[in-house]
Amino acid sequence: MMPEHAMKAALRERAAAVEAFLARCLDDFRAPQRLKDAMLYSLCAGGKRLRPVLCMSCACLCGGTERAVLPFACAIEMVHTYSLIHDDLPAMDNDDLRRGKPSNHKAFDEATAILAGDALLTDAFVVMCGAKAPPDRLVQAVATLAAAAGSAGMAGGQELDMLYTGKPAVSLEQLRQMHSMKTGALMQASCVCGAILAGADFAATEAVRLFAAALGMAFQISDDILDITSDTATLGKPVGSDVARGKNTYPALLGLAESRRLAEEQSAAACEALRPFSGNEADFLKSLAVYTSRRTA
Ligand code: IPE
Ligand code: IPE
Ligand code: MG
Ligand code: MG
Ligand code: MG
Repeated sequence: MMPEHAMKAALRERAAAVEAFLARCLDDFRAPQRLKDAMLYSLCAGGKRLRPVLCMSCACLCGGTERAVLPFACAIEMVHTYSLIHDDLPAMDNDDLRRGKPSNHKAFDEATAILAGDALLTDAFVVMCGAKAPPDRLVQAVATLAAAAGSAGMAGGQELDMLYTGKPAVSLEQLRQMHSMKTGALMQASCVCGAILAGADFAATEAVRLFAAALGMAFQISDDILDITSDTATLGKPVGSDVARGKNTYPALLGLAESRRLAEEQSAAACEALRPFSGNEADFLKSLAVYTSRRTA
């Protein structure tokens, strides 16, 4: 393990590399200026940059370099940002604040927000192909990411989220499945793609997969908790939104105390999954996992 302040410093340093790349990532696209403005509005609005940092860190854990995977890592953040823009739309969560600013559809308009999301998702696949890796590894990573974002992953999980909204009889198993798809899948792919691009062997890739599955679950349970316990200024998005919309969440089903316990349990499982690894990178990832279940923002 690593002290929290050292983990946060490493996180900040990597996030800075992500920020710099993202600010330029649309330079070569000849898009209508308003669409580009809308894409960059959400993309460069801060955010914790957790998924790209996880991708870079898991690549380093498996013998790769940050620099080689940076385009792929940032492309994952583009996919994530698309999901946030669409998640906030009136037809979905209808939230007006994101990353401390008016949501994309409030700052622009609904049609532009839909298209900015579509374009971020699609352009991400151009950007990710700029990663420096042998073609077979790159193809495997691209397919992994696409599957995680698609119908059996994030988009499918978001559909379950909408289907379950306002429904009182959702089971813990259904909730677990929804969380692992809408949030876990992209986080898992972030980590696994880092490992694949670095040329990790089967055992290492599986360990990373287990780590990330548990981390993703801890992360979304914490997100559900923060919707109740945090405040809008800290989170940069509206609190109380889940309760207001009748969302099925861990605290709604199990209460805050049990939700906190389960988040901690998942963080511990994430740390356990990294047992085959030692060294600074493994320490960083373990500290990040512990922090995820206790985070306040
Ligand atoms: C928010 O993700 C959406 C979820 C999957 C819970 P983050 O909490 O990572 O949002 P940003 O990127 O920091 O804004
Ligand atoms: C979002 O879950 C998951 C996504 C794939 C975007 P939430 O709807 O809980 O995310 P927030 O709380 O709005 O960030
Ligand atoms: Mg949602
Ligand atoms: Mg939402
Ligand atoms: Mg939420």
